[in-house]
Amino acid sequence: MPGNGSGSGVNPECVDLTDIVFNPTTKQIALPISYQPIVQPIDNEMTDQGVELGRFLFFDPILSADSTKSCGSCHGLDGYYTDNLAVSPGIDGIVGTRSAMPLVDLVYAENAKQGLFWDGRVQTLEEQALLPVEDPIELHDTWDNVEEKLKRSERYPRMFREAFGIRENCDITRELASKAIAQFERSLINLGNSEYDNVVIRQIGFFSSESAQRGFQFFFDEDDGDFVPDAECGHCHSPPLFTDNSFRNNGLTFFTDETALNIDDLGRYLATNDPNDIGHFRVPSLRNIEFTAPYMHDGRFETLEEVMDHYICGVQQSPTLDVLITNHCDPNDTFRFIDEQGKQDIIAFLKTLSDTTFFDNPAYQSPF
Ligand code: HEC
Ligand code: HEC
Repeated sequence: MPGNGSGSGVNPECVDLTDIVFNPTTKQIALPISYQPIVQPIDNEMTDQGVELGRFLFFDPILSADSTKSCGSCHGLDGYYTDNLAVSPGIDGIVGTRSAMPLVDLVYAENAKQGLFWDGRVQTLEEQALLPVEDPIELHDTWDNVEEKLKRSERYPRMFREAFGIRENCDITRELASKAIAQFERSLINLGNSEYDNVVIRQIGFFSSESAQRGFQFFFDEDDGDFVPDAECGHCHSPPLFTDNSFRNNGLTFFTDETALNIDDLGRYLATNDPNDIGHFRVPSLRNIEFTAPYMHDGRFETLEEVMDHYICGVQQSPTLDVLITNHCDPNDTFRFIDEQGKQDIIAFLKTLSDTTFFDNPAYQSPF
């Protein structure tokens, strides 16, 4: 490291970094053709250097008290940025009550300005990235300590210099670390190479099975000549993201006005204090849903079969239940009834949303 503090040094303990070139380059992101342009904060636009620093920080256990876990432990590429657990243990082995969320296409959730997390209680990715480090059931360190570790490390002073132009290692702050992590997270965008994208968006070829084609009709209430009952899925899980990033109650928990405040997880109410939001959770994207089991905010369903059993015959009544959610198991109700074949058709369609090219992209992989 050049300089060793001489010249710039207010604090002789600090190392001067100004010999290292600071010339950040704008990160180019190729969005799938059906996706809207993204909006980034003007004071933290993605650069190649910032995203790269964020990728290192995201996967580096240096952010945890005992150097055993990173963000990537609960949001790893193998599970499409979730951990395939119902609830996730932090460094002390204590588990939370909610399932880790896949972090892909997250910039759109942020742009929708309804809030992040299952309940929407945090607004920006910069703000969010500060939380896990000190959370006792996640990385359980302190930012003071993490800042010290980053300043003293071999790797990071140079990377913070290249990304943010800091003058000396002592200028490394939690705010800059969270900015870099947020840049990396915003860069996690689908590539649009699924069977669905090919058939429906690019109009190349047909679904690989008739079952998936029928599932598509169920999902979007499309008729195509043959009558297909409405499953209503596409209203909330709307393309191209397969979520409208709204918060809704899809009928997982039974409650009445009297028992509403006793349910295990009050959902969006925790963020808004509005009783109409009790039991509302953010609509998750269904892209790559095949790889992100278990499902729902508490990971209660192991398989897509179980998810479908819920939507077909397991809907629980409550005052905040969404109007689009009803059971589909009454054979006399021809507009709604979904039989076993229909259930398999919808699952076949959901699997057309899989895109394994996402996993092969080095930009999304851990650098370690
Ligand atoms: C111990 C497991 C664990 C670790 C470690 C962890 N997370 Fe999470 N993450 C979760 C869980 C669980 C949720 C859902 C929490 C909720 O909704 O209350 C979540 C939610 C999120 C969200 C919100 C996603 C959305 O769609 O709204 C972001 C962003 C996120 N985590 C980023 C990070 C970052 C960055 C780190 C590292 C600094 C990190 N996480 C570390 C478990 C973890
Ligand atoms: C009223 C809006 C709405 C409709 C209609 C709807 N969903 Fe959902 N869906 C949600 C919400 C909200 C969640 C998250 C609920 C939670 O975890 O508490 C969810 C969760 C899911 C999940 C789990 C995702 C994950 O990452 O855990 C799957 C799979 C799913 N829905 C598929 C479907 C299918 C298939 C249909 C049609 C049969 C459908 N949904 C209809 C709102 C809806």
